[in-house]
Amino acid sequence: MDHFLLLLPPFFFLLSGGTFTRGESFETGGDHRDLLRLANDDAEWLVSVRRQIHSHPELRFEEHNTSALVRAHLDHLGVPYSFPLAGTGVVATVGSGGPPVIALRADMDALPLQEMVEWEHKSKVDGVMHGCGHDAHVTMLLGAAKLLSQRKDKLKGTVKLIFQPAEEGGAGAYHMIKDGALEGIEAIFGMHVDYQNPIGTISSHPGPTQAAVCFFEAKIEGKDGDAASPHLNVDPVVATSFAILAMQHLISGENDPLHSQVLSVTYVKGGSEYRTTPPFVEFGGTLRSLTTDGLKRLQRRVIEVIEGQASVHRCKAFISMKDDEYPSYPAVVNDDVLHRHVQRIGGLLLGPDKVMMGKKIMAGEDFAFYQQLVPGVMFGIGMRNERLGIVHPAHSPYFFLDEDVLPIGAALHTAIAEAYLHEHTNYVDNAALSSAN
Ligand SMILES: *[C@@H]1O[C@H](CO)[C@@H](O)[C@H](O)[C@H]1NC(C)=O
Ligand SMILES: [Zn+2]
Ligand SMILES: [Zn+2]
Repeated sequence: MDHFLLLLPPFFFLLSGGTFTRGESFETGGDHRDLLRLANDDAEWLVSVRRQIHSHPELRFEEHNTSALVRAHLDHLGVPYSFPLAGTGVVATVGSGGPPVIALRADMDALPLQEMVEWEHKSKVDGVMHGCGHDAHVTMLLGAAKLLSQRKDKLKGTVKLIFQPAEEGGAGAYHMIKDGALEGIEAIFGMHVDYQNPIGTISSHPGPTQAAVCFFEAKIEGKDGDAASPHLNVDPVVATSFAILAMQHLISGENDPLHSQVLSVTYVKGGSEYRTTPPFVEFGGTLRSLTTDGLKRLQRRVIEVIEGQASVHRCKAFISMKDDEYPSYPAVVNDDVLHRHVQRIGGLLLGPDKVMMGKKIMAGEDFAFYQQLVPGVMFGIGMRNERLGIVHPAHSPYFFLDEDVLPIGAALHTAIAEAYLHEHTNYVDNAALSSAN
């Protein structure tokens, strides 16, 4: 936990005055310092929770033991919750019960990935790994549950802690919403561990930040037969080749070059003989766009192009966006005000030099479903540590976590929530006062 020594100096900045806007009182600065210390006192507990989850990873919608562990800790902390939502989801409540109501979100699922890191708490489940850090997300949110409930008398409103299933391709957020997870909530915060920025930092980016994503599969059907007499067959190989090349033009020629889109064909399967034209060819891949509308347009054009190319080559096309298995995700669009809130509170807690501007990425995040309904911000918490060789991206079988991130994340969640409620309660009070006068 030696990072905390490094984190102390910024408070001299705080205590020496600086400029505070509404809500960032001298007192709040002191609170933030308390928070890091309190969270650090919980470090051992947080590490043990995280290791328990890491060694017992569960795939999307199967997070039964993880969910049970979350509920056991909430019971122990005396924090009430609703369960189940979306199968394994849990929504805990801390605070006054009244408005403002905000949400902090963690995802619980692991990846179908074989962990390649040899260490004591390696995944005990073959082919399943917490390779995206969701074990840390659950742990940090439990840490926040503890801190918030210890300090609940100071909370000027209500914090909902959303533990959701199935971020990895299952649109768990969508199902949580259907089961009422967002009711009454006016703002939502999501935190993701970030291997690119060093431990002790946070990063966020306003506006469109992560791509709308879908997957597609296509089958082009012709008529098989002896390859020596092609005129008697209908060749799906040539039709597929034209279709894949024609699709490239959707990005290079039809998309605004200043608007980010991706179209990747990631597999082609068809035929196995030298002398026989196959009956069909299958291919598929992924489509991405930094806007949700952009993805819809791209989906429509992909269907038209594949069908058109199949038809011109006398084939039939069958195309699926695989919505049952992998519902398409909207784009992550971060609310500007909440982005600035996160950066400001991150600066107060960790020091202004620890606040980075986030980067846009073409990876998806089902947090976007929440953002379609309420303002939200998805931000990164740094955990890169080159000294410990922690440099591997999420979804790598070598992904590893600097566990020093756990208390920092718990404190950050707590500070963000407390400060938001503090500031917005003032706002409501003032409004009520002025309308009473
Ligand atoms: C979940 O818990 C049950 C009962 O303790 C155990 O049998 C099972 O192996 C656990 N599953 C995982 C994925 O750890
Ligand atoms: Zn992931
Ligand atoms: Zn993730």
